[in-house]
Amino acid sequence: MKHYSVLKQEAIEGLKLRKNSIIVDATLGYGGHSSEILKQIPEGHLYAFDKDSEAIMYAKERLEKVGSSFTILHQDYKTMKSALLDLGVSKVDGILFDLGVSSPQLDDEHRGFSFMRDEVLDMRMNQEQSLDAKVVIHTYSKEQLADLFFRYGEEKQSKKIAAYIVQAREKKSIETTKELVDIIQNAVGANYFYKTHPERNIFQAIRIEVNQELTNLEKALPDALSLLNVGGRICVITFHSLEDRIVKNVFKQVSEVDEMVKGLPVIPKAYLPKYRIVNHKPIVPSAQEMKENSRSRSAKLRIIERIHDDEKE
Ligand SMILES: C[S@@+](CC[C@H](N)C(=O)[O-])C[C@H]1O[C@@H](n2cnc3c(N)ncnc32)[C@H](O)[C@@H]1O
Repeated sequence: MKHYSVLKQEAIEGLKLRKNSIIVDATLGYGGHSSEILKQIPEGHLYAFDKDSEAIMYAKERLEKVGSSFTILHQDYKTMKSALLDLGVSKVDGILFDLGVSSPQLDDEHRGFSFMRDEVLDMRMNQEQSLDAKVVIHTYSKEQLADLFFRYGEEKQSKKIAAYIVQAREKKSIETTKELVDIIQNAVGANYFYKTHPERNIFQAIRIEVNQELTNLEKALPDALSLLNVGGRICVITFHSLEDRIVKNVFKQVSEVDEMVKGLPVIPKAYLPKYRIVNHKPIVPSAQEMKENSRSRSAKLRIIERIHDDEKE
């Protein structure tokens, strides 16, 4: 199975692993990052989440070859805090999020993520959920689709594309990615289509909606921050600006001194930020990595560290 782990070295170094670290991989995928983490924490434990059962099957075998001190949870990472508490874990030393879809998910024809091939419209990371791309395309109103394409795809022609989809689905159900791409091209005309590739934006928007990618991230980040021990770190690898903006804003918010006390000569301990941003500019892949894996081009890694405990409040 061909799978590149993006920014692998940089993310692993960012986690500052120790032999006995307790680490969470929120997005196990095919276990590229996790197997390296497991190697470096022989006296610790790895908790790994993924909602894709195919990925879990593959990653489990891969991890078993490295060690036994790991627990895989077939759950959405947004449930991280309660799922770990159920296992008796209330604090951890590091959490990794490597967001988005994996290369095997994109490359596998029956998953329906790709606009480059003709596949059944699907795009679910979790094959057990009922909301898929076909449901979105057929049950959302014209206004809902336009809003989705604009917000999650940042597509200028969102209204026109939504109108064409609604027109097309009234005549015949839209079954495949190729049919959807053709409708998008008809809506915007060949010139705009080949110049700006709106299908990328539309597929991104549908994928985000089907998998609730942004809402899950917004829910999970505060929980992840609260799980960190002092000295513990969160590394997040994002692949588009909407995700990156969420991470950047949350990290900024929790690492800044409260406006109320900013001007004071000595800031009371209770008001000191509990976190510190490790890298103000996101880490991006090297030219070599981008050459080897073109999908890494948009990747950005942000790291935050816990510097104070709750008790100091
Ligand atoms: C980019 S891949 C991770 C690749 C992995 N780091 C590796 O090196 O093999 C992202 C993975 O996260 C999973 N995923 C995305 N959102 C998720 C969520 N909310 N909960 C659980 N898993 C999620 C996807 O199913 C996918 O397998």
